[in-house]
Amino acid sequence: MARHTKSWNEGNETNRSWRRTERSRNRSDRSRNRSDRSRNRTDRSSNRWERSWNRSERSRNRWERSWKGPERNRSTLTHKIGYALLHPGRIAPYLRRATRDAWLRLRHPDHVGYYRAVMASDTRRDPEAAVGSRSHERWLALGRMQFDYLLGHGLRPEHKMLDIGCGNLRGGWRFIDHLDPGNYYGIDISPDILIAAKKTLTERRLQHKLPHLTLTGDLTLDFLPSDHFDVVHAHSVFSHSPLHVIEECLAHVGRVLTDEGFFDFTFDRTEGAEHQVLREDFYYRAETLLSLARAHGLSARLMDDWEQLPHGQSKIRVRRSPLPDEAPPA
Ligand SMILES: C[S@@+](CC[C@H](N)C(=O)[O-])C[C@H]1O[C@@H](n2cnc3c(N)ncnc32)[C@H](O)[C@@H]1O
Repeated sequence: MARHTKSWNEGNETNRSWRRTERSRNRSDRSRNRSDRSRNRTDRSSNRWERSWNRSERSRNRWERSWKGPERNRSTLTHKIGYALLHPGRIAPYLRRATRDAWLRLRHPDHVGYYRAVMASDTRRDPEAAVGSRSHERWLALGRMQFDYLLGHGLRPEHKMLDIGCGNLRGGWRFIDHLDPGNYYGIDISPDILIAAKKTLTERRLQHKLPHLTLTGDLTLDFLPSDHFDVVHAHSVFSHSPLHVIEECLAHVGRVLTDEGFFDFTFDRTEGAEHQVLREDFYYRAETLLSLARAHGLSARLMDDWEQLPHGQSKIRVRRSPLPDEAPPA
């Protein structure tokens, strides 16, 4: 009996201890479940946060590309507002230009007439600023960049050069200095900038080089001889030209080039939608201009070495004969 009592007591004790263990196991199971649920909740919320971060990262990247990347479109209202917020000092000059643009569009429906009037107004204020240089140092530097580039590409004194949209000879005076007398032809649509060009020529004492400076109303180049120019050059001209003006030039430039001659032009490049700001600045995709040149029977390629220089525009070279590394036009 005593043994039985003992064993009964022992049994009770064992049962109680088993129940205690069971209760404690249940408690810890419940607590583990609670912490599992809370971990799942945290995981779900951190996944949600990650997804929303990725979404906002993607939209930030899209915004950055459209704001400062090669795809940006300066003609959109969002770009203009963003730009104005970042550069409040440029709002008044932009509004002045926009007002002038509206007025000149009314007076000059054709592009050449319009741009000639823009140049007249800008040149009156400052000829160096009219060709796009903020200071005399920049004017000198931009001219030197054009000159050094062509010198590096083999421009020799005996070569004949046509400078389309020569402006006030920012690059021109260096070319005139380098070339043999009579070998430089500068043409421009603006009488005002050509008067400024003569002043540059005089200041640089280059009269003996007898350059030709001619006013033109179009880019058919009809007054120039065939097979004549070794180098044709247009710096920051197509960045201010609608496509039909560029096409006119590409349709005719082949005639005045020699067989080995080439035509280099810069343009404002976009990798997004082609657009313009007022009627002053035009942004093109490289493929558009390359295809246009090829459609006129020219070889064409983008100049990668120019891309390395500190200049915002890109450069395309065209030629009648195939360029090195270039298949002949179809
Ligand atoms: C930004 S300035 C550049 C001048 C010069 N090439 C330089 O780099 O200093 C543009 C010049 O191209 C001229 N221009 C614009 N459209 C033209 C066109 N269709 N034919 C000839 N000249 C043009 C303007 O009158 C102006 O002098």
